[in-house]
Amino acid sequence: MNNSLIIALDFANGNEVKQFLQPFAGKELFVKVGMELYYQEGPSIIHLLKEAGHQIFLDLKLHDIPNTVKSAMRGLAKLECDLVNVHAAGGREMMQAALEGLEAGTSAGRKRPDCIAVTQLTSTSEEQMNREQLIPGSLMDSVLHYASLTKEAGLDGVVCSAWEAGAIREKLGPDFYTVTPGIRMVSDHIGDQKRVATPEFARNTGVTSIVVGRSITRSADPLKSYEQWMEAWKGVTI
Ligand code: C5P
Repeated sequence: MNNSLIIALDFANGNEVKQFLQPFAGKELFVKVGMELYYQEGPSIIHLLKEAGHQIFLDLKLHDIPNTVKSAMRGLAKLECDLVNVHAAGGREMMQAALEGLEAGTSAGRKRPDCIAVTQLTSTSEEQMNREQLIPGSLMDSVLHYASLTKEAGLDGVVCSAWEAGAIREKLGPDFYTVTPGIRMVSDHIGDQKRVATPEFARNTGVTSIVVGRSITRSADPLKSYEQWMEAWKGVTI
């Protein structure tokens, strides 16, 4: 989990995933399966990726009443992914229920998947948060508040932007994971993301892991892009 570069497999189906992964044959990656792919392929895509030896972040961002989240997590635990998540906005009770479900669904002797909570999406700006969610104040305060709530609920960390990761680390300690999407090279397109940062900035601010999607998956040469990204993220030539 620590210092991972997680590739967001935002593809429409399993065939596109297989095609994308071809040049990576033999490499063990940390990949993220989000709702676009999971809603089409279901558990079979997880089995396929696990058989290929990849670590998996199942990014379904659960947000519902505690009982429903608990039951859903009990089922998801059986897929034996490494990392799953919820929305912190679902509240402390919902987050605790998520953990209870994961514990209940994890077979004896196995470690339950790590569980993190989304604070504010990296596509949300402070202005949107104030106007649309009616949360006054700064985005940083909202993210820090959600991160503290997440830690109190017993979860392992949060999804946030690299801009908030340093403050979270300072407040909640280095063992509390900060997983940061919205990472872009200076030359990349920002797309729909708002709170973006470079891999160097993410590394220097001490984030646990970065999530990179389109910059690698939509590249003309994904393997080469991945290697360039690893270099920038680790700060060394690989
Ligand atoms: O293509 P890009 O690098 O923007 O991909 C970012 C990935 O991280 C997407 O799969 C998106 O769903 C996910 N994500 C995010 N912001 C969050 C949580 C997850 O962008 N707060």
